[in-house]
Amino acid sequence: MAEQRTIERLVIFGATGDLAERMLLPSLYYLDADKLLPDGLRIVGSARSKLDHDAFVAKVHDVLKRRVEGLAEGVWDRFSQRLDYCPADVTRAEGLKQLADHLGAASTIFYLALSPSLYGDVCRALDEAGLACGDCRIVLEKPLGHDLASSRAINAEVAAVFEERRVFRVDHYLGKETVQNLLALRFANTLFEPLWNNLAIDHVQITVAETEGVGDRWPYYDEYGALRDMVQNHMLQLLCLVAMEPPPDAGADSVRDEKVKVLKSLKPFAAPAAQQLSVRGQYKAGVVEGKQVKSYLEEKGSESSTETFVALRADIDNWRWAGVPFFLRTGKRLPERRTQIVIQFKALPHLIFGERAGDDVVANRLVIDLQPDEDISLLLMNRRPGLAGTRLQALPLSLSLDDGGRRRIAYERLLLDVIHDNPALFVRRDEVELAWAWIDGIADSWSDVAAQPKPYAAGSWGPAGAFALMERSGRAWLDE
Ligand code: BG6
Repeated sequence: MAEQRTIERLVIFGATGDLAERMLLPSLYYLDADKLLPDGLRIVGSARSKLDHDAFVAKVHDVLKRRVEGLAEGVWDRFSQRLDYCPADVTRAEGLKQLADHLGAASTIFYLALSPSLYGDVCRALDEAGLACGDCRIVLEKPLGHDLASSRAINAEVAAVFEERRVFRVDHYLGKETVQNLLALRFANTLFEPLWNNLAIDHVQITVAETEGVGDRWPYYDEYGALRDMVQNHMLQLLCLVAMEPPPDAGADSVRDEKVKVLKSLKPFAAPAAQQLSVRGQYKAGVVEGKQVKSYLEEKGSESSTETFVALRADIDNWRWAGVPFFLRTGKRLPERRTQIVIQFKALPHLIFGERAGDDVVANRLVIDLQPDEDISLLLMNRRPGLAGTRLQALPLSLSLDDGGRRRIAYERLLLDVIHDNPALFVRRDEVELAWAWIDGIADSWSDVAAQPKPYAAGSWGPAGAFALMERSGRAWLDE
């Protein structure tokens, strides 16, 4: 294996696009502000536009003035010295000639902030242009395909040029501080692990609720829907981190091997049960955070049977989780922004305090809030002080993760890890493909029974079926 050189160039394909503007450029700026970028690293923007160097630098300055809190002129001076621009047609080797001359033999990261449908062509073109040298790395964004077959095809085209250790597949949820904290919570405490199984846990809820609608992203979204946009990647990653066995260490392959075992244990969806186990919804007009908002169909301007909400029950067929359902729910235009994991423990086996106290008893639960607040809270029962017999009350024991500092963008962590060649927070090929295989089962079940999305008012918690999904097993979502 060739010796790793320090990365000298970071090329962003799609440098004038939305992802670069919202996430990549601000993240790189913050890393530079904290002096975390290697001294010699140059950032090369690339897109079709024939911008010159000064116009690109001016554009980035403009972006950062809007996106960064308190842009410091001293940091900007240093950051701007790193910037270059090189126009390219990334799908043809000839279109990469100018970039190839510019890069020479530099060890380079290619960040593909582009439509995944181009990934195969881009990899081929990079190879033909002599740019896919031994220590170059490639960063890919989701969605990697639309189903298992298309995902395999993209992964195979990428693999024909870049071996797996050089491929970094982003799931930006893994870059979130609180998601990484899940591993610390589980594996840096002795308290939880003995209880983390079907003897003590009744069920798990994972909610990713957004108040935003689809808006002008509908050309992408309409083809994917909530199942492929959110469940296939972010939600299954959260589920894996909750459900996996303790890995031997926190190394990239140790953690990813354990996640793969969870994905392999997910019970496949079968058509007859799909109606019972999943719910699709689509938002109508309504009121969110006090504002009247349009329906999805009005935003799109035509008919659509794409879901903007999914709730489903996942079962993990292994020793630890047999009989413990995982309820997943995600949607656009819900009443609040909330990403939350609830570990619901079982009810008390027997109450010694009498009937009156029984009315107050709530089963213990661990609530992990990932967004917008970062908070972990354990609901515990205790006795109400006083002389009037034993009355109980539930009180949360809270561990706030907010240290008052700026909350980092998930991409800061991820970009730094690509630069340092640490793939632990990136998704391995087998993970992506196993996740698609399970998602395909759900999508196929829906099409077998021609399941249409049920309407829900914007600003509500989704269609009635989402509540029924829980009620059928005698449980309820935490917000009810
Ligand atoms: C993206 C989805 O991957 O994640 C979007 O494509 C979604 O539809 C976004 O809004 C949510 O990310 P976050 O970090 O705001 O929770």
